[in-house]
Amino acid sequence: MKKHVLIGIVGLFLSLPAILPAAATLDLMPLPERVTLAEGQFRLDAAFTTVVTGPAEPRLYSAATRMLRRLSGRTGLFMTQDVITASTRVEQPSLTITCQRPGKVALGEDESYSLTISPQKIELHCVTDLGGLRGLETLLQLLQADAQGFYFPALTIQDKPRFPWRGLMIDVCRHWLPLEVIKRNLDGMAAVKMNVLHLHLSEDQGFRIESKLYPELTRLGSDGFFFTQTQMKEIIDYADERGIRVIPEFDMPGHTTAWFVSHPELASAPGPYTIERRWGVFDPTMDPTKESTYKLLERFLGEMASLFPDPYLHIGGDENNGKQWNASPAIQAWMKRNGIKDNHSLQAYFNSRLLKILSRHGKKMVGWDEILHPQMPKTIVIQSWRGPQFLVKSARQGYQGILSNGYYIDLIQPASFHYLNDPVPADSALTPDEAARILGGEATSWAELVTPETVDSRIWPRTAVIAERLWSPASVRDVDDMYRRMEILSPRMEELGLTHIKNYEMMLRRLTNQQETSALRTFTDVVEPLKLYARHSQGVTYLQHSPYTRVVDAARPESMTARAFASHVAAFLATPSSPEGDTVMNQLAVWQENHARLLQIMERAPAIREIESLSQDLADLAALGLQAAEAIQEGRKLGSDWAFSKQIVVDRAKKSRGQVELMVVAPIARLIQAAE
Ligand code: ACM
Repeated sequence: MKKHVLIGIVGLFLSLPAILPAAATLDLMPLPERVTLAEGQFRLDAAFTTVVTGPAEPRLYSAATRMLRRLSGRTGLFMTQDVITASTRVEQPSLTITCQRPGKVALGEDESYSLTISPQKIELHCVTDLGGLRGLETLLQLLQADAQGFYFPALTIQDKPRFPWRGLMIDVCRHWLPLEVIKRNLDGMAAVKMNVLHLHLSEDQGFRIESKLYPELTRLGSDGFFFTQTQMKEIIDYADERGIRVIPEFDMPGHTTAWFVSHPELASAPGPYTIERRWGVFDPTMDPTKESTYKLLERFLGEMASLFPDPYLHIGGDENNGKQWNASPAIQAWMKRNGIKDNHSLQAYFNSRLLKILSRHGKKMVGWDEILHPQMPKTIVIQSWRGPQFLVKSARQGYQGILSNGYYIDLIQPASFHYLNDPVPADSALTPDEAARILGGEATSWAELVTPETVDSRIWPRTAVIAERLWSPASVRDVDDMYRRMEILSPRMEELGLTHIKNYEMMLRRLTNQQETSALRTFTDVVEPLKLYARHSQGVTYLQHSPYTRVVDAARPESMTARAFASHVAAFLATPSSPEGDTVMNQLAVWQENHARLLQIMERAPAIREIESLSQDLADLAALGLQAAEAIQEGRKLGSDWAFSKQIVVDRAKKSRGQVELMVVAPIARLIQAAE
């Protein structure tokens, strides 16, 4: 592992002297464009002071103050400096931040910075204060410790983003996610230099933003769970302070049931409508043939256009199944009269009307893949979710685009999968002009299966590696080093109030009915929730009000225990005499004994009965793994009859139960094979 890291770093720092100091394994995510290491360290103590010089926004002063609090919190140092303001004067400050001009939180703004750390002082230079914010996050990530205390390694970093659009989409409709969830995730985004929060604000299952012109939209369509405009302004300000744009999405013409609860006249079939409680793609669709539809949208979108300052507004456009249009004689007749031949063209007509409305209100249009149509002008931005080919196709045709296919974090895929998914793949054969139309990408946090309690664990830490893909040079692709750095960053992100790690223990405690959690943790550490959308087809019907508190919800999207175990097994099989053999066998022994402990807990914890047989399978499998590992270590063979007779145990352990899968079956099966 160490060797890989070193090679990755050497590959990255072309300007490096031949001998690398120990600090070469920098714990940064995203990795900067250029790092040059120097001799020595800047030692941190309570006298650490910061000064901001040059014409800066208030946002840089607050960011510097927040940095100071985070340093103090992490180190336990009673920092003497309290608040950093424009009038802060300090003789010989430890950190000087110098910006040339105030930045604008807008697409394409300069976010570059350079950071120089010497044993005497730290200097952060930036064109705009947004670069200053990015550089402060780098500095915070550079903090290290030894027996004497905390320090920053001496170095110079020159850094800027590869893509200007680095986003996270949060669906607050399927499950309501209140203000504090959004704020802590904005802090998480800022920590990894992301700059777009895309809020999915209307859906079949809820209408989540107050309209003062149409208050009935939330009165009837939200169960009382929505952002007031005051709260939304608070989110926008909070995001702006962190250099993050906020883009609202009003998904149309499908995904619109919640609108129709108060405004059935907008729909393509008569109501009444109620808030949808199920998950899936539903029929209710806006009627694009009625002028009254556009009248309402003109006023509503005008109101939203003034609430949200960013020039971009997302109109959704995905998954219109066309059933209501097909079934409506009036719509069919209208299409015939107007020479519109199919539903895609009817949707393009609808979108072109929306485009006129948005233009009148000074907004540019963003939409999912489906809005791509020859009739649409090149000013729209395509968000590709169905496949990278749609992004490539739209770039060829002259459209700007952002990638989300491959960044669907609700699909519970491993960090490595998202990490290697490049918005401009090396083999895409786009010309430089075409490639430049690809603005970046967005991770998408769809909320069917998450609640305020679990959402952070689905977003983090995997979104951090997507942030690196969108910020760092394309050549940064060392997966082992990515995992190493991700695991260092992840617990640090909890200082921002994120709950992705700490809620795990709380959920396990509830599942055990307040008993000791270690046996359940040992089990849950090696399972993952079913991937893709398989949870919906395993005999459980999830609804909006279902419990999202079971083992599958506590389980993390990617088992780091299983990943580490697979790597120990590989090393052991490569060198049977290595100490890795003991690590492997100790781990297997823990799993073998765990089931009896868990059975005792289950006596008073009915909610975990559903994983009883899978826990038994883990114990059985671990017992076989132990026999195999012992034989391998002693150089004995157990024979193919033995291995064959054990296959039934392996096969049984592969079957999911309680919507979770055991992630250590493959490495244990490898041990069994190797011992046969
Ligand atoms: C989508 O996932 N339907 C955009």
